[in-house]
Amino acid sequence: MKKIIVTGGAGFIGSNFVHYVVKHHPEVQVTVLDKLTYAGNRANLAGLPEEQVKLVVGDIADAKLVNELVQETDAVVHYAAESHNDNSLKDPFPFVQTNIIGTYTLIEACRKNDVRYHHVSTDEVYGDLPLREDLPGHGEGEGEKFTDQTPYNPSSPYSSTKAGSDLLVKAWVRSFNLQATISNCSNNYGPYQHIEKFIPRQITNVLSGIRPKLYGDGKNVRDWIHTNDHSSAVWAILTKGKIGETYLIGADGEEDNKSVMELILELMDQPNDAYDHVNDRPGHDLRYAIDSTKLRQELDWKPEFTNFRDGLADTIRWYKDNRDWWEAEKQAVEANYAKNGQ
Ligand code: NAD
Ligand code: DAU
Repeated sequence: MKKIIVTGGAGFIGSNFVHYVVKHHPEVQVTVLDKLTYAGNRANLAGLPEEQVKLVVGDIADAKLVNELVQETDAVVHYAAESHNDNSLKDPFPFVQTNIIGTYTLIEACRKNDVRYHHVSTDEVYGDLPLREDLPGHGEGEGEKFTDQTPYNPSSPYSSTKAGSDLLVKAWVRSFNLQATISNCSNNYGPYQHIEKFIPRQITNVLSGIRPKLYGDGKNVRDWIHTNDHSSAVWAILTKGKIGETYLIGADGEEDNKSVMELILELMDQPNDAYDHVNDRPGHDLRYAIDSTKLRQELDWKPEFTNFRDGLADTIRWYKDNRDWWEAEKQAVEANYAKNGQ
């Protein structure tokens, strides 16, 4: 694989993947196709070698542009999306347009040009799991984590459009022999994550003198993985994955939101109750948990950045050291949340 297109490569996770490729595979040419929405940022690609990484600013739903680019490539790794649940509850349309029509445009181009396609998706397509405390044996039994056999049951406009895009890919594999793989990953954290998301929102709240905000009772559980581990998993699937297969990516990082909030406060030398309870998210998924056995056993992948406390401390340091990256947007992001009492 000599030339790849990375859609959404100027966003949080896509840019991490581009850095991963540059570091580990200097022979691979990368074209980033990114619309630079509010979530995309050229600065995420700063310092990368111009002779290896090219940024094309454009829309994945632009069929002409996509066709021209896909003709020149060996593979497409598709990260671009509208990615934030809360935004999808306010205005679902961009989610339908980018996540469904955008994906359709890419897979049509890959089909016509016989190009390898990897589809980056989310564990949220499976809906949610009961809290462990509500399960007999505290959730250690069969069926209590997501696997690639779990039925789709998405809750939000965001997750339903991601689910729709996954189903398009599955149909294109079966009907048109699209050379595709799919990955469904759990919650990522790390540097460069947009400050609308839970962890960076709370870190930058503390750094801005704003009280952090917890939705509801904070019992909801997310299965955290460092974004570096997501990138190594996607590379493994792109290069060793079996066509037509779905791989779930996770690092056994289940934490409830209240515990994550308290850990952020502790690491930032704040009292552990120095936050506000705010309005809950409508339809708020209770728990996500990934069973990544298939990926680990079949593709010999394992996560490396599994110490959540250390990863969070590094992430906090990054936001402290990179105020220029987020500070200009902070007021507008918080004003938007305040409209919903969040
Ligand atoms: P992000 O919002 O930080 O970045 C999205 C990127 O896509 C931005 O650079 C944006 O400019 C670009 N983009 C949006 N619409 C576009 C369009 N129409 N054409 C071209 N570019 C467009 O998102 P993220 O958190 O980095 O997520 C990346 C992918 O990973 C998404 O597909 C998401 O569903 C998936 N994912 C995210 C997580 C997570 O925890 N954040 C977990 C699992 C899967
Ligand atoms: O599971 C993978 C998904 O993880 C990805 O597909 C999404 O793109 C990504 O945004 C993320 O979705 P979540 O909705 O889980 O992430 P978010 O950071 O928005 O919220 C994490 C949890 O924290 C969730 O239970 C809601 C809660 N929360 C969020 C915010 C922004 C709060 O309690 N307070 C907040 O201020």
